[in-house]
Amino acid sequence: MVHSKTVIELRNVVKEYILGKTIVKALRGVSLEIKKGEFVIIMGPSGSGKSTLLHIMGALDKPTSGKVFINGKDISLFDDWNLAMLRRKNIGFVFQTFNLVPTLNALENVMLPLEPIHMDEIEKIKRAKELLKLVGLEHRMLHKPAELSGGERQRVAIARALVNDPEIILADEPTGNLDTKTGLQIINAMRELNKKENKTIVIVTHDPTLLKYATKKVYIRDGTVERMEE
Ligand SMILES: Nc1ncnc2c1ncn2[C@@H]1O[C@H](COP(=O)(O)OP(=O)(O)OP(=O)(O)O)[C@@H](O)[C@H]1O
Ligand SMILES: [Mg+2]
Repeated sequence: MVHSKTVIELRNVVKEYILGKTIVKALRGVSLEIKKGEFVIIMGPSGSGKSTLLHIMGALDKPTSGKVFINGKDISLFDDWNLAMLRRKNIGFVFQTFNLVPTLNALENVMLPLEPIHMDEIEKIKRAKELLKLVGLEHRMLHKPAELSGGERQRVAIARALVNDPEIILADEPTGNLDTKTGLQIINAMRELNKKENKTIVIVTHDPTLLKYATKKVYIRDGTVERMEE
């Protein structure tokens, strides 16, 4: 672990949202380094900036000021196409709001990140089915999001984040809508990816029972890193 390379680095990241005449300071200068193979847990009160932080780490949103390096590269120098390529190849994102496509069934939603990839259609279906099985949804593959429970939707979102075998997995409250047993199943799947394949995992959670798995704990308060434990 000591010699692992840094996969994500944030340097003094500030994020402000402008809402009419008010400025919301979501992040007030966050610096943080995440190394390959780390299992990072981010905790903090509602509205403290956790989702904003995760979006910026995943190159889904740009900081107002400060720098983000992914695999050593300053991503502010990337154009939209290169950013899209970076996300597609390296990052799996589980959104707090799932972001599933309502007109597609579970299998099609999971296959979505594979669309631009050169792979046989049959292989794509096989891969998506494997992941739906991993999250315990092999019996719900043809259901559309509206025909699934909240926890099932969440599991589809997790399968989708993993389908392109990303190096970095960023998950926003991945167990928030799940019962204890299913939540544990999901976390165990992520731990396995972390241990066996050395994937870098960053999870935002309110659930203190997940803390025991973390190699690094980051406590966010009011847009700043209040405390960090290795
Ligand atoms: N698009 C936006 N426009 C304006 N303000 C925003 C926007 N997104 C987030 N905010 C504000 O920025 C702050 C941080 O929001 P963020 O979603 O990062 O919090 P969070 O820690 O993820 O909270 P939760 O635990 O409730 O998900 C909040 O005060 C929120 O109201
Ligand atoms: Mg959030």
